[in-house]
Amino acid sequence: MVGYGFMGKAHSNAYLKVNRFFPELARRPVLKCLCARNADKARAFADVWGYESVETDWRRLVERRDIDVVDIGSPNDTHRDIAVAAAASGKWVLCEKPLARDVAEAEEMVAAVERAGVPNMVWYNYRRVPAISLARQLVNEGRIGRPFHYRATYLQDWTISADVPQGGATLWRLDVDVAGSGVTGDLLAHSIDTAMWLNGPIVRVVADAETFVKERVHQETGKPRPVGIDDACAFLARFANGSMGTFESTRYARGRKNYNTFELNGADGSLHFDLEDPQYLDFFEYRRPDGGKVEDHLTGWRRVHVTNFEHPYMDRWWVPGCTIGYEHTFVNALADFLAGAESGSAAQPDFRCALQTQKVCDAVLQSARAGAWVDAPTVIGVE
Ligand SMILES: NC(=O)c1ccc[n+]([C@@H]2O[C@H](COP(=O)([O-])OP(=O)(O)OC[C@H]3O[C@@H](n4cnc5c(N)ncnc54)[C@H](O)[C@@H]3O)[C@@H](O)[C@H]2O)c1
Repeated sequence: MVGYGFMGKAHSNAYLKVNRFFPELARRPVLKCLCARNADKARAFADVWGYESVETDWRRLVERRDIDVVDIGSPNDTHRDIAVAAAASGKWVLCEKPLARDVAEAEEMVAAVERAGVPNMVWYNYRRVPAISLARQLVNEGRIGRPFHYRATYLQDWTISADVPQGGATLWRLDVDVAGSGVTGDLLAHSIDTAMWLNGPIVRVVADAETFVKERVHQETGKPRPVGIDDACAFLARFANGSMGTFESTRYARGRKNYNTFELNGADGSLHFDLEDPQYLDFFEYRRPDGGKVEDHLTGWRRVHVTNFEHPYMDRWWVPGCTIGYEHTFVNALADFLAGAESGSAAQPDFRCALQTQKVCDAVLQSARAGAWVDAPTVIGVE
């Protein structure tokens, strides 16, 4: 495990839980090594979570013969080098999102895992929120009909103050050299992955982006430096199926903390989801899959509490009515990854699938710079 931060914790928890809630899995993760640059902090984290050893250089980690899987939970500027080296040593590779800082890095990573033939996955964990998996099931069952609109927001508010510095261990997300981009790679990447999973490929985009605070003190030098990331970004999209998309993301929406929502409107029905209320999926049914119209004096939105045994993943957790939360999405994702590696049918999104999201992110940033529509080329081999 590379990194002991937010994701280091979420993933470590998943490794400890996965065989207890998915006991049919033949593979049993063993927490061999925690890798991070600060040895004392890495050791303290390793002790709490039960890692057998610590490395302070990821190069040592990928060389070790007693390690089969490398999981990259470190900032975006580390993803490419660690993934390429890990794949070359024959390790299975899991990587946090966004896959890379840009398409060029992401393509190297796809080539590396495919050359090595190793199982790989990117942690777009929101696919494993049961309500979002149920949304996909309803789309596949034909309950939405011809799609017209996809609407996504991903709003936060934590960088409004100009006193927030950039860079260093805690604020690397504001340093463009480390993060690659701002809300586009950090937040919109999630919205784009979910959107394409539910509604198919995005083929072109037109975007507008803004950096509201132009200069921030850099934590490593103590000196002001221009801010190179996008603080906010909104874009229009066209999907291959002809529907229209709107996507909005910012870290300047006062009061919004992790407001990740989507709505899909089709001829026969609509879906709505809000991550701050994650156990619910809202569904409006206009026409049933058998063709019958649902129009009477009780027509209205249905709020499905996605906690029954027949809902995705919920037979693994508690009894109907008991909710699960954020951390469970990582356990569900890891279970799918291990099951995919065991069956030979790769869990998605693998690196190649996540490259498609990276291409849309790059097209969004290019469009914001150019002020024009930009095509998002479809990645061969991704449906
Ligand atoms: N899937 C999600 O919902 C989600 C949520 C948050 C973050 N992320 C992604 O996870 C990654 C990490 O984000 P985070 O929030 O956990 O960051 P974080 O700042 O909380 O933790 C980063 C960790 O990486 C370590 N690190 C930094 N450089 C390193 C290096 N060269 N070698 C080894 N370790 C190094 C740090 O010591 C720290 O432990 C990012 O790519 C981010 O985009 C994904």
